[in-house]
Amino acid sequence: MSEMTWPMPLVELTDGYIVMREPVDDDADALTAVAQDEQSQKYTKVPADYTHEMAVDYMRSRAADPGTVMWAIEFSEAPGRYAGNLEIRLVSEISRTVSLAFTTAPWARRKGLMTHSANLALQHAFDNGARRVEVATLASNTASRMLLQNLGFVLEGIVQKGREHKGSMVDVAVFSRGRDTEAGIDASAARAGE
Ligand SMILES: CC(C)(COP(=O)(O)OP(=O)(O)OC[C@H]1O[C@@H](n2cnc3c(N)ncnc32)[C@H](O)[C@@H]1OP(=O)(O)O)[C@@H](O)C(=O)NCCC(=O)NCCS
Repeated sequence: MSEMTWPMPLVELTDGYIVMREPVDDDADALTAVAQDEQSQKYTKVPADYTHEMAVDYMRSRAADPGTVMWAIEFSEAPGRYAGNLEIRLVSEISRTVSLAFTTAPWARRKGLMTHSANLALQHAFDNGARRVEVATLASNTASRMLLQNLGFVLEGIVQKGREHKGSMVDVAVFSRGRDTEAGIDASAARAGE
């Protein structure tokens, strides 16, 4: 595929273990609780003293933003209970590059939710013509870095003091997955070496 479809369709994505669906206003209470969690405060841009109104505004602004496609996530066995969210964001249509941003609700962590969600999002991005998927995470965010490495993302480097984060300049770890990359190894190079 030589072109990327953007915005990518906000269709339901599922692998049987989790379901990714369009966010609804009723998710706002859960999103508010997640935003107030210590890890989210530490590693994401979500403001302190997050309120229900801010969550509603955030979801509506995402829905209206031509550069973002956002899903709410549930476990298949717990339908209706918001367990996290994932966004695919446009980086460049010309270079067919998107980025991912994600958060799992505290109660839902370490159950594979984001592993399954990010894998579905990667497949969706590649199916819609993406060539490169990036994630920039704070270098201190061990959970996010482990997740990405397990998903086959390659650590491209650390941008020293690359981001202003809640009043300080902090290091950023830049990860990527290419459509031909499997588990961090370039598949075409691996095949050439066979
Ligand atoms: C990072 C985050 C999204 C991981 O979500 P999750 O649904 O718990 O991830 P998974 O259950 O799929 O975990 C997959 C792997 O990631 C790694 N991982 C996840 N949480 C971890 C932690 N607290 N410490 C170390 N490794 C961790 C592990 O290797 C884990 O596999 P394992 O459980 O088999 O050991 C979640 O911790 C979170 O929402 N954090 C706060 C917000 C945030 O940092 N967002 C990312 C910004 S870039």
